[in-house]
Amino acid sequence: MRLSNIIQSVFSVTTLLSIPTAVTAADSNSTSNSTTPAITIDGNAFYNSDTNERFYIRGVDYQPGGSSNLTDPLADVDVCGRDVPVFKDLGINTVRVYTVDNSLDHSECMKLLSDAGIYLILDVNTPKSAISRLNPSCSYNADYLQNVFATIDAFAEYDNVLGFFAGNEVINSDNTTSTATYVKAVVRDMKKYIKARNYRTIPVGYSAADIVANRQLSAEYFNCGDDADARIDMFGVNDYSWCGQSSFGVSGYATKMQLYKNYSIPIFLSEFGCNKVVSNRPFTEIESIYSTQMSSVFSGGLVYEYSNETNNYGLVKIDSDGTNVTKLPDYENLKSEYAKVTNPTGDGGAYNGNDYSTCPDYEEGTWEANNTLPDMPTAASAYFKSGAGEPMGTFISTQNSCYDDDDDDIASLSSSSSVESTSSSSVESTSTSSTTTMSSSTLASSTSSSRSSSSKGVAGTLEVPTIFQLLSQGLGYLL
Ligand SMILES: *[C@@H]1O[C@H](CO)[C@@H](O)[C@H](O)[C@H]1NC(C)=O
Ligand SMILES: *[C@@H]1O[C@H](CO)[C@@H](O)[C@H](O)[C@H]1NC(C)=O
Ligand SMILES: *[C@@H]1O[C@H](CO)[C@@H](O)[C@H](O)[C@H]1NC(C)=O
Ligand SMILES: *[C@@H]1O[C@H](CO)[C@@H](O)[C@H](O)[C@H]1NC(C)=O
Ligand SMILES: *[C@@H]1O[C@H](CO)[C@@H](O)[C@H](O)[C@H]1NC(C)=O
Ligand SMILES: *[C@@H]1O[C@H](CO)[C@@H](O)[C@H](O)[C@H]1NC(C)=O
Ligand SMILES: *[C@@H]1O[C@H](CO)[C@@H](O)[C@H](O)[C@H]1NC(C)=O
Ligand SMILES: *[C@@H]1O[C@H](CO)[C@@H](O)[C@H](O)[C@H]1NC(C)=O
Repeated sequence: MRLSNIIQSVFSVTTLLSIPTAVTAADSNSTSNSTTPAITIDGNAFYNSDTNERFYIRGVDYQPGGSSNLTDPLADVDVCGRDVPVFKDLGINTVRVYTVDNSLDHSECMKLLSDAGIYLILDVNTPKSAISRLNPSCSYNADYLQNVFATIDAFAEYDNVLGFFAGNEVINSDNTTSTATYVKAVVRDMKKYIKARNYRTIPVGYSAADIVANRQLSAEYFNCGDDADARIDMFGVNDYSWCGQSSFGVSGYATKMQLYKNYSIPIFLSEFGCNKVVSNRPFTEIESIYSTQMSSVFSGGLVYEYSNETNNYGLVKIDSDGTNVTKLPDYENLKSEYAKVTNPTGDGGAYNGNDYSTCPDYEEGTWEANNTLPDMPTAASAYFKSGAGEPMGTFISTQNSCYDDDDDDIASLSSSSSVESTSSSSVESTSTSSTTTMSSSTLASSTSSSRSSSSKGVAGTLEVPTIFQLLSQGLGYLL
């Protein structure tokens, strides 16, 4: 039996950066009347393309069902229709969704979000279709790219897509840095695809785990090199360092300001909200994040997470029949912080004069990512001409489709999924989760105690063979 394949999500960002100066207007008819005109990038900040005002992400991570139960909250209007009014009440302008089913219709939910002035950051991976930590080279294949491109096709038309994440915490330890090469290749392919299909220039980014040994190397690597297509457009950091009544200095935020000071593209907190607190989270970090203490480098962030799931990070509790939500004390605290804190005036110290980063050298044991990216699998180039075609949804695993390019077809895909459970919801019983690191380390060689935080998103899940799932269910563990 093969020991777990590890899955990540990939994000895609488009190449706003190749036009270093101007904020470009959307190519589409997004203009004027939309409550969510396209967000564009200039230098290290986001801007509203209608008003040219700086845009700060005030968001939540939106993953009802948790990482253990794959659901697409944007395909079911009963779900998003329940939650969008709550988002509005909370005062947010962005949600991050970790996985969607690209074969479903998202128009109603996307409209509800847009009407409420809310943008979407979307991870393009699914638990079974992602770069694998155990065999990144194999998992980077034409079938996988077809799935990613089909997700882009499904969302590119919406002006309120702020950006795509090509991957989430694919590097989640000291010894998974070699995966970065493949994630960066995916970034490149996504950006080229968006251009080839004449879509709006939608940013493509990466969401990084906060790992002391390689967080700076990751930031540099994904934003380095002469090939603008291969560089991310935005960088998300999952950072749980501010716990309770902390401060700019004590939390480590000040250190991060120094670390990323000269970064040339937007950075934001793609997950934050440490729950290692005595009672409720006070969310006083909001006062720091949306102040000039941080606005010259950071463009806001997303609180982990909307609904209360097994890892206990919820702002609201979804009632058992799924019709209503109950707002928890964390919700009220966050809402009052948002209401109290306005964005810095003007451009908040944004800067567009930094150059992209210098590529870190390959270093055994420290940074094992090659600056020569693999070529895109040849079979994937057909999609650039004609589009990705029929979306495959979430049922097909692409992780082991590393057969010869010439054999690419869906039939061989389905057969490759036999190692996994056929039910999509049972596959990802795991969250790599919890800042405590216990979760997956025994199973999957991919977590490491050196990480100071880890994603709670489904995108960071492990794919666990059925027998382990059964075991873990029996034991009631996180696994
Ligand atoms: C914009 O809208 C006009 C009028 O509705 C339409 O003719 C045109 O094709 C649209 N352009 C794009 C890029 O969608
Ligand atoms: C924009 O709003 C104006 C005034 O409300 C309206 O006349 C116009 O048709 C709208 N345009 C679009 C594209 O919705
Ligand atoms: C997963 O989510 C579905 C739909 O939201 C729900 O019906 C099902 O009970 C959930 N399964 C588990 C194991 O929580
Ligand atoms: C940022 O850039 C300035 C000017 O180029 C340089 O002096 C400084 O050392 C850089 N800081 C970091 C943290 O790289
Ligand atoms: C959130 O879920 C966790 C795990 O089920 C539970 O322990 C906790 O009590 C829940 N929180 C609230 C406020 O319901
Ligand atoms: C859900 O909320 C609505 C509106 O507040 C209320 O009328 C309804 O009774 C609630 N339903 C349940 C099952 O609690
Ligand atoms: C980097 O990639 C190139 C091309 O795939 C390969 O020839 C080279 O050996 C790799 N270098 C390292 C250090 O892995
Ligand atoms: C990373 O290191 C851990 C702990 O030493 C090990 O169990 C695991 O196999 C390694 N993972 C990879 C992908 O090499």
